[in-house]
Amino acid sequence: MPPFFPGSYPATRLRRPRLQPWSRNLVAEHVLRPADLIWPVFVIEGKDRQEPIASMPGVVRLSIDLLVKRAGEAKKLGIPAIAIFPKIDAKLKTPDGKESWNPENLVCRAVAAVKKKHPDLGVICDVALDPFNSDGHDGIWLDGDVLNDATVELLCRQALVQAEAGCDVIAPSDMMDGRIGAIRGALDAAGFSHVQLLSYAAKYASAFYGPFRDAVGSKSALKGDKKTYQMDPANSDEALREVALDLAEGADMVMVKPGLPYLDIIRRIKDNFKVPTLAYQVSGEYAMLKAADRNGWLDGDKAMQETLLAFKRAGSDAILTYAAVDVARNLG
Ligand code: PBG
Repeated sequence: MPPFFPGSYPATRLRRPRLQPWSRNLVAEHVLRPADLIWPVFVIEGKDRQEPIASMPGVVRLSIDLLVKRAGEAKKLGIPAIAIFPKIDAKLKTPDGKESWNPENLVCRAVAAVKKKHPDLGVICDVALDPFNSDGHDGIWLDGDVLNDATVELLCRQALVQAEAGCDVIAPSDMMDGRIGAIRGALDAAGFSHVQLLSYAAKYASAFYGPFRDAVGSKSALKGDKKTYQMDPANSDEALREVALDLAEGADMVMVKPGLPYLDIIRRIKDNFKVPTLAYQVSGEYAMLKAADRNGWLDGDKAMQETLLAFKRAGSDAILTYAAVDVARNLG
């Protein structure tokens, strides 16, 4: 670091460059662009269907045909990629989550439909069993814990059907040990060496995922909690170890999740590894801002943009946010 130049008043007046908007723009250190945003979307069966999610005002689950349409609108606004999450019929949920590796499952059909219409829009798929698992867990739940290695095998199958459907980026969010290396190996062996891996490397056992679990219908199924696999919010050094392992196993990008309560983690990862580092502004963060906005307690659009800029300042290269489309429109 070069020596910090302190200056002194009155020769130095830091308010001077703040006087005019053009000047503030010139000296802005960070900028939020639509190209920084990834839009997470929820998909359901059916045609021309959309369902509101009570705990996520403004967010709807979409049938594939509507998703394809909205994805096109997002692309037009300059959003580079979407991340697809399914709400699976409860009847298809099993302890091993086998619907997750059915090549005809809802996610795979959604990916294929979006890529067919919008080949140049990035499509990211979550890898984890929870939308498909009758116990609501990201892996196989047995005696109060999730089995690691047995789950990793199933995650590889899930990743393969997603890659076959045309998914560009596989994003394991399950937090099993060793899954990045295993999935990389499985993808490469099947001829998918071009498919990227975005690891949810530092994913915390967080209360902020509540509305998401409403959205994919895993909340009522969930037995116990996810503390045996997701990280303890008390830890920061451990996040660096998670990232180091995932990079060594072949992750192309790493993610921190949730976002705003973990900006310190984003900054440490960026400083230490200098790799593509993403942040997920999760459902609970989105819901808090929307709730305050709907009550007239703050200006929701401004608070949202300020929050997303904070992610950039902390070192995020890109941000997953449910507000991506609205924000991109406002940035216009
Ligand atoms: C599950 C998964 C979760 C989210 C993304 N993938 C929830 C969880 O771990 O329980 C949360 C996203 C959000 O809250 O917006 N593998």
